[in-house]
Amino acid sequence: MQKVLVTGGAGYIGSHTSLVLLEKGYEVVILDNLCNSSEESIRRVEKLTGKKITFYNVDLMDKEATLEVLNKEPNIDSVIHFAALKAVGESVQKPLIYYNNNISGTINLLECMQETGVNNIVFSSSATVYGDAKEIPVPETAPLGATNPYGQTKLMMETILTDCAKANEKMNVTLLRYFNPVGAHESGEIGEDPEYPNNLLPFVQQVAAGIRPKVFIFGDDYDTPDGTGVRDYIHVMDLAEAHEAAIAKMNGVKVYNVGTGTGYSVKEMIESFRQISGSEISAEITARREGDVAMLTPKAELIKDELGCEAKRGLTEMITDAWHWQSQNPKGFRE
Ligand code: NAD
Ligand code: UFG
Repeated sequence: MQKVLVTGGAGYIGSHTSLVLLEKGYEVVILDNLCNSSEESIRRVEKLTGKKITFYNVDLMDKEATLEVLNKEPNIDSVIHFAALKAVGESVQKPLIYYNNNISGTINLLECMQETGVNNIVFSSSATVYGDAKEIPVPETAPLGATNPYGQTKLMMETILTDCAKANEKMNVTLLRYFNPVGAHESGEIGEDPEYPNNLLPFVQQVAAGIRPKVFIFGDDYDTPDGTGVRDYIHVMDLAEAHEAAIAKMNGVKVYNVGTGTGYSVKEMIESFRQISGSEISAEITARREGDVAMLTPKAELIKDELGCEAKRGLTEMITDAWHWQSQNPKGFRE
């Protein structure tokens, strides 16, 4: 049985990935400081799978405590590194907190892995590393650039990981560049739980549930079919399965886009949510959000060709599962 250390495993994508790993027979150890999550997500994953997770409430900024986890948990085969701060707007306001947490946390983790001989790591990167991409759909080989401190941290972490692999031929690094993860596990037991949503779907979910009065559409004058921004949304369970496929087949440094290859506009997303939830969902057009691009969708074939991994769930499942989670857990994990 392979043993995987999941940093940030109590969070949105980490909890769904831990569930997939347990179901596939892996042993899961989670390290998370719960700065943006709750231990309840871990309990629910255990309940859904009927399996145990070893949980350490540890901050990656605390190198001694992180090393202690790796020493206490011998024979870790791979690390999946989700732990990071991720709010783009906040990163512009508080850049040092982002650089410190995301970069120092990653360096501490890598040092601890080196000291304990763990050589395989899958990293949560983001489509944000393409900046304002010229070529759409964007291939993995496109030029990189970031438009905010959060994106800079992702670019820097990609570079640090790649350099570490160059220096150590035993090391395997897979960089997964996620597009827009949405949805929830079909049970409705785990899902995304933001107190103040920054992203479109969690915001729409909360409007549909009556928690917020309306959704603001950030601009309808983009050069897109209906004037609103187009993104590639991927079901979080498809994304979770991509992580399992990545750790099952590590080989040197690999970089993959993780998306579906199909883009939807903000208006299309809201309309689908109206239809599926039966909620009215008031919407108002406002100014563009600074730093947003008109369209960002990936070339999504490489991960299919090399890892045999393909998104299976479409927009209806994404929204049905998001709404199931939201309506079943109006206060998220905070009840
Ligand atoms: P999340 O906030 O739900 O999960 C991140 C987890 O990391 C949280 O549980 C948090 O408590 C933990 N964490 C943060 N800093 C830590 C530290 N110093 N030590 C220990 N734990 C720490 O976010 P998510 O949406 O699940 O995202 C997971 C990863 O995927 C992040 O790296 C994020 O940047 C990346 N990503 C997310 C998206 C998205 O839209 N959700 C898109 C692209 C990339
Ligand atoms: N949008 C609205 N109203 C909202 C929120 C978003 O109209 O309240 C629009 C945005 O302008 C954009 C689309 O909905 O056109 C998607 O926005 P999100 O904030 O949901 O997602 P982004 O594509 O802007 O950003 C996400 C992650 C980032 C990541 C990026 C990579 O939040 O962490 O994808 O593409 F870097």
